[in-house]
Order: sequence, then C-alpha cells, then structure tokens
Amino acid sequence: MEKRYYINTYGCQMNVHESEKLAGILESRGYRAAAEQDSADVIVFNTCCIRETAETHVLGNLGIVKKLKERRPEIVVAVCGCMVQKDGAAVRLKKRCPFIDIIFGTHNLHRFGEYLDRLSETASVVDIWEREAAIVDDVPLHRDSGVNAWLNIMYGCNNFCSYCIVPYVRGRERSRSIDSILAEAETLVKQYPQITLLGQNVNSYGNDRADGATFSVLLKKICELPGSFRVGFMTSHPKDLSEEVVRTIAENDKMSRFIHLPVQAGSDRILHLMNRRYTSGQYSDKIKMIRDYLPDAGLSSDVMVGFPTETEADFADTLRLCADVRYNNLYTFIYSRRSGTPADKMEQVDQKIKKERIRRLIAQQAEIGAQLAKEAVGKTFRVLCDTYTDGVCGGKTDCGRAIAFTSDTDLTGRFVTVRAERAEHSKLFGALTNKTEDRR
Ligand code: SAH
Ligand code: SF4
Ligand code: F3S
Repeated sequence: MEKRYYINTYGCQMNVHESEKLAGILESRGYRAAAEQDSADVIVFNTCCIRETAETHVLGNLGIVKKLKERRPEIVVAVCGCMVQKDGAAVRLKKRCPFIDIIFGTHNLHRFGEYLDRLSETASVVDIWEREAAIVDDVPLHRDSGVNAWLNIMYGCNNFCSYCIVPYVRGRERSRSIDSILAEAETLVKQYPQITLLGQNVNSYGNDRADGATFSVLLKKICELPGSFRVGFMTSHPKDLSEEVVRTIAENDKMSRFIHLPVQAGSDRILHLMNRRYTSGQYSDKIKMIRDYLPDAGLSSDVMVGFPTETEADFADTLRLCADVRYNNLYTFIYSRRSGTPADKMEQVDQKIKKERIRRLIAQQAEIGAQLAKEAVGKTFRVLCDTYTDGVCGGKTDCGRAIAFTSDTDLTGRFVTVRAERAEHSKLFGALTNKTEDRR
C-alpha cells in the first residue's frame, strides 16, 4: 500500500514554502499526501519559534501525535525548522519527546530523504547544523499554494532586531543567483498567474553577492519574462526600501501594488531599542515616497505592542502612526520574550497592559479597515481570482484587497475586472464588469 505523509506547518511563508520542499522530497520517494494526520505514516512538524505561542502549538500537537504513536509505533515522526534550530533545543526536545524519530534544523532540510533512509539502521536521527551551508537549489518541490507560487530569493537575516530570534535560527543573508531565480520564475509564470518572492528582507537581496545583483534589477528581469502574471514579494525592511525599487514597481504593470512594510512601533525611543534603524519620521517619508509613485498602493504592516519599557505615551505614538498611514491590513502581535535576544534582558511590560493595548490597536484598525473599504466602493479593480465556492469567486486586487463577487463560472486563476459595490466591515463585494481579460 502507498505510504502517506502529513505535514504540520507553523510560522511564516518561508516555512509554508519549505513544507513544499519537504513534500517534494516525500513525493519523490513515493509517498502521497494523507487527508489528515491520523491516517499518515510519516508526520512532519515544520516548526516556528517567533513567539512563545508558536512553540506552544507545536508542543500541544506533539502530545496528540504521541498518543497516535502509542497505538501505531510504526509511524515516523519528524520535527524540523526554527524551533529545533535554537541552541540546544533539539536535544532538549528529544529528551522531552523521545518518541520523535527525526530532528533536523533549518540548514539541512534538503537532507530529509537521507534521514528517512537512515531509520532502517538506527533508532533515531538528530542532526542540527550550526552554520548555514551553501544554497541547495535543486530540492524537489511539491507546490500546494493555489494560484500563487512561492519563490525563495534569499535566506537568512542580518538585521538582529533586538526582540527577534530569526537571525539566530536562519543564519546570515544568502542570496540566490539571478540566473537560478530567473530560470525558476520562467517555469513558474507559465503555470501560475502569480509569484511571490520570499526573503526575510528582500530589499537587501544581492548585498552578499559580488555580481551587482540588486532587488530592483531582479524585479526588472522577472517582469521582462513573457506572459501575463503578477509579482509580489515579502518581506521588506523599511530601512532598506529604496526609491529605485518603488520606481521599478511603478514602471512595471506586472508588479503587485501591495507592499507589506512592517513598522513594529511608532515611538522613536522604542524603535531605537528594537534596533530597527529608522525613526517614525523616516518611516513616514518612505510611505510618502510609495504614495507619490503609487497613489493606489495597498499597505500592510506588522506592529508589536508591549515591547520592554513601552509606556502609554510610546503606545500612543504607535496608534497615531497607524491612524496616519491607514493600513489596509495590520498584523498585530504581543511582544513575546525570546531567550538569547537582547530584549529579553530589558525591563518587561505587564501582560495585562499588553493585552489591553493590543485590544485598542485592533479596534482602531477595524475602524480604519471599514473606512477604507467604504471608500473603495464604486472603484474598479483588476482582480486575480483565487477561490470559487457556491457561485462566489474570491480574489485579490492588484493593491492586495480581498474582494468577492458572484460568477456563473469558476474563474480561479484568471485576471478579471471587478467593480466594488458594497462594503461590509473591511470586506468588499463587487460585480464582474464585462471587460474580462484572458491570462494568455
Ligand atoms: N523579517 C520580517 C519579520 C519576520 S517575523 C520583517 O522584519 O519584517 C514577523 C513578525 O513577527 C515581525 O514583523 C514582528 O512584528 C513579529 N515578531 C518578531 N519577533 C517577535 C517577538 N519576540 N514577539 C512578538 N512578535 C514578534
Ligand atoms: Fe527579525 Fe528584524 Fe530580521 Fe525581520 S528584519 S527577521 S524582525 S531580525
Ligand atoms: Fe517562525 Fe522561523 Fe518564520 S521562527 S516566522 S518560521 S523564519
């Protein structure tokens, strides 16, 4: 009988994409996807440790899998990703959960197949590489992302924001070569109407290379590929977002008009403690630059509340900045202590205060989102359809807005023109205009 696998993915898009690589490795060895965890022969946990809650989710589900494994000892349980890449974490996890068969880190994901093989000779495998290795470009991929294809352009992060664990578990920045990215992009845009370029800080793409590759050069080359497709990217660090990149977006119709530009906080004192290396004024100047070139751009951001020493006045600065920018979407987080990071040693804010602040931030954003949706009514958008259920298509506009509309046919994967007719909170509902464009 065919062996089945199930992958639990936690964390960011990087992990979502890396799970496609894990799936690719499994598929290339004859495994097929299981509909649910209970019926799988191999269960993988691709973990995240950005906040404590991310780790709690992993440990909770591992508890469930422990019971499964008691009933069916032949199941293979593999844990990989950021959580086990932390100093000493793999050994601690193996002690706590001895039933785990394979543990590997973020730098050796491409070896997963070998680890599976090794289980025929050894009881378990724990292999964490301390240092980042050369980029491995030819890992098999089993894509599972609907109309969008993820494309890694770089790995790692050099920024060391004082709260963040990512640089410790993902290593230093390494950019793929333009040629290898272009080759992958060329294949992808023949099959997918949208590609999203991935990196922790895509604006520093190429900085580690000696061949003159920069993010704007890469974007231009990708946009020159034939076909009608949309190109997005994430994530951008505000300090490195250049005018050249914004101009490139403005000059290329294939570029998405949606920019995720995490601000984290509105107080200059807190931004400094966070080691973000910009002030709220510099951030606002970047937003102004984006709006000058791209008046209709959609913007989103990550914001953290309760960073160590954050006062009510600091938080008021965050509220004010978010109200000024009027983001389409805001991803809000309560600061979570990560051991080994500088912020962990700073004076912490009371959990009650953090919760109260995030509640106020979310409430403010709900109002802004509803207001922006109302203002969009009557406007016409180019939309890439990504879902179709019960006669209703869902999709995203070029500026990143979600919109739904009725349709007799399934338009998934097609670009169409939709007029926004009604707003419900921050949700938009529209109608197809007769100007429907074909993909090729
Ligand atoms: N490289 C991306 C961020 C990746 S992590 C960037 O710099 O934009 C995604 C988000 O998680 C961050 O933007 C931040 O808002 C949040 N985050 C990171 N570390 C955190 C921590 N210790 N506690 C709470 N939120 C955190
Ligand atoms: Fe973390 Fe900062 Fe790097 Fe983003 S830029 S991954 S927040 S250290
Ligand atoms: Fe989490 Fe690692 Fe991404 S810590 S947010 S999965 S880079």
